[in-house]
Amino acid sequence: MTTRITGQGPSTPVPARPALSGRGLSKRYGTQYALSGVDIDITPGEAMAIVGPSGSGKSTLLHVLAGILPADDGRVTLGGRRIDSLGETKRSELRRTEFGFVFQSGMLVGELSAEENAALPTLLAGEGRREALAGARRWLEHLGLKGKERNRPGELSGGQAQRVAIARALVHRPSVIFADEPTGALDTRTGGDTMQALLAAAAESGAAVVVVTHDRDLATSLPRTVSLRDGRIDADTRATAGVPA
Ligand SMILES: Nc1ncnc2c1ncn2[C@@H]1O[C@H](COP(=O)(O)OP(=O)(O)OP(=O)(O)O)[C@@H](O)[C@H]1O
Ligand SMILES: [Mg+2]
Repeated sequence: MTTRITGQGPSTPVPARPALSGRGLSKRYGTQYALSGVDIDITPGEAMAIVGPSGSGKSTLLHVLAGILPADDGRVTLGGRRIDSLGETKRSELRRTEFGFVFQSGMLVGELSAEENAALPTLLAGEGRREALAGARRWLEHLGLKGKERNRPGELSGGQAQRVAIARALVHRPSVIFADEPTGALDTRTGGDTMQALLAAAAESGAAVVVVTHDRDLATSLPRTVSLRDGRIDADTRATAGVPA
């Protein structure tokens, strides 16, 4: 795996990203299948929504692709290299370097400032504190949080806190950002703005975005929507905007 230079600003170009693929992914809890033979390819830099009813396996799929949860069957590759069979140490290193995560409610560390929260991935990657914080501040500013760098999560609005979470997901220039209902706890307008901020920042960074959402409008606004039902993909739709009818 290539080693990335960390802590750079939003506009620093990054070399081509690897594709992420899942083949025959299955996951059971007891006798119940949460995922059942899912095949999925995530192209570098693409934005995709994952939709489906509650319990259809959306979060499970994200967790299996990201190596948070081992699959019972199937394989996951990143840039053609198998990653699901790596040991826990290697998998957790990979999660920290290649992937970024945004959850429904930020999961920021309450005792740390916005800039310290956003700098966590680069600090964990061993970057010096000064450079890591400077990199984090560039992302925060880029996401409209200038002046809030020293605020703790409790001193931020819900939308601002999610932007800190977005900065944290992007600061180490991951290949893929996984977002599980990232705006689910926000009102419609703030949620829409926050999602646009996430998509724009990811696009600039060249990261692919896989976003689980219940918001049909958001899903249809993205170039690709994968629909899950009972742990299987029942539709994988790509927008045909720009293609003449
Ligand atoms: N830790 C667990 N133990 C047992 N069953 C689980 C566990 N996690 C998930 N499941 C089951 O696996 C299935 C898929 O769950 P998952 O969380 O992936 O659904 P989801 O599509 O993300 O739903 P939601 O929209 O409600 O978040 C569900 O039937 C769920 O009950
Ligand atoms: Mg879920």
